[in-house]
Amino acid sequence: MLEVKGLSKSFGGFRAVSEVDLAVAEGEIAAVIGPNGAGKSTLFNLMTGHLQPTAGRVLVEGRDITGVAPHKICGMGLGRSFQRTNIFPRLTVLENVQAAFLAHRGQGANFWSRSERLCRDESEALLASIGLAGRAQATAGTLSYGNQKQLELGIALASDPKILLLDEPTAGMSAGETHETIALIERIARERGLTLLFTEHDMAVVFSISHKITVMHQGRVIAHGDPTTVRADAEVRRVYLGDLGDRPMSPRS
Ligand SMILES: Nc1ncnc2c1ncn2[C@@H]1O[C@H](COP(=O)(O)OP(=O)(O)O)[C@@H](O)[C@H]1O
Ligand SMILES: [Mg+2]
Repeated sequence: MLEVKGLSKSFGGFRAVSEVDLAVAEGEIAAVIGPNGAGKSTLFNLMTGHLQPTAGRVLVEGRDITGVAPHKICGMGLGRSFQRTNIFPRLTVLENVQAAFLAHRGQGANFWSRSERLCRDESEALLASIGLAGRAQATAGTLSYGNQKQLELGIALASDPKILLLDEPTAGMSAGETHETIALIERIARERGLTLLFTEHDMAVVFSISHKITVMHQGRVIAHGDPTTVRADAEVRRVYLGDLGDRPMSPRS
């Protein structure tokens, strides 16, 4: 479904992503982990067209999408959320989702004139599916942090992706919010048959829901495989300093 071949990105002389290979099969839940600065967000930005690679290729369903503009990649079924929230804080929750539907359908110019009607039913249905129906009329900027991240997920889903890339979907959340959000993501991925690739710092979460895990360190992939294989990997243990998966761990930078 999603394939990355020999992908590299340099900023000046610094190699943030170095010869990364990665493949995610249809319907798979895959995680990319690694210490801060390992290159995870850069890798995601290369896959979604927000950054151009120095070398290498990105393929979606076998089609080379390297160098294609982000909105076109999104239109090909690769949706994403960002590590920092990406909502319109002064619009209502419902308007945020409506705007996302309209943007996806190329009707953005009509948004302000006919906002009351546009995509209202789909938007309300989507809010219900992500547990935000009760907050539809709230101003997005006033939501709790956890609810804002949920709304971000809704915005990403409005583009009806086949593949969803989530960069730290639980960053900054309490333990309770993290648990709820992961359960929500897992349910939505299953219901929609999504292929999911995510980054996450909470190792308990990563090892509980992932079919495949890729470990990055200093821009390179140092391990890849199912959770059991990755947990047993000596290099991964060295980078993470200890026993993975039993509790959340702070990786060594
Ligand atoms: N636009 C940029 N210009 C220069 N350096 C960058 C840029 N974006 C990221 N980097 C550097 O690339 C490295 C990888 O960053 P990032 O991909 O954000 O890592 P991660 O998401 O794994 O924490 C870091 O050292 C970061 O400082
Ligand atoms: Mg990051």
